[in-house]
Amino acid sequence: MEIFIDTADPKTIEELWAILPLAGVTTNPSIVAAGKRPLREILPQIRSIIGPEARVFAQVLSRESTAMIDEALSLRELDPNLIVKIPAVSAGFAAIERLSAQGVMTLGTAVYAPMQGLFAAQAGARYIAPYVNRVDATGGNGIKLVETLQSLLDLHCPACSILAASFRTPTQVLDSLLAGAKAVTIPPDVARQMLVSPSVDVAIQRFEADWHKAFDKLSA
Ligand code: E4P
Repeated sequence: MEIFIDTADPKTIEELWAILPLAGVTTNPSIVAAGKRPLREILPQIRSIIGPEARVFAQVLSRESTAMIDEALSLRELDPNLIVKIPAVSAGFAAIERLSAQGVMTLGTAVYAPMQGLFAAQAGARYIAPYVNRVDATGGNGIKLVETLQSLLDLHCPACSILAASFRTPTQVLDSLLAGAKAVTIPPDVARQMLVSPSVDVAIQRFEADWHKAFDKLSA
């Protein structure tokens, strides 16, 4: 199982990298644009925080398959281990297939429907990313989509993993993992919600208070 953080903000990555057992960092064009720093600047900085082994994802903006491939190869010049996110659309399936043949790891992104994900997987994507909250927001069932995709991958494309994305709540993340997703990418605000637990704080304070009352110091 792999947990990723969905951000390009170096401070946030530093903060959460120190706390959570993360496998890497995912970005998309909107996330990078929000930081107003181009990928050629931000990718090396992310790499310097998370080290050479962790996974980093960045997405192409091109809409035509040859241009997607050229852009993917340029992005890999910035980071030779980059996993390239390619939209799971007609042009994307062809790009994924040709990039996979060249040994470039890809993720089929913006998956809203089972066959869309399966086509990307069959083309050779290492991951596919169903957009759980965005599917929910358009009246669909994001978790059901993850479940269906996982059954399809188990049956037909076991080398591809679901990297579930687009979350607004910790429950969506948990339900995606229970539905079989082998990886999730969590936005920082949702990750922080998972780290705050008033009941746990109260329990720890109570242990401290009881200890103080008996021994008047905190050490054993
Ligand atoms: C993955 O990295 C996706 O781009 C991302 O999770 C989309 O999430 P959003 O719906 O929060 O924009």
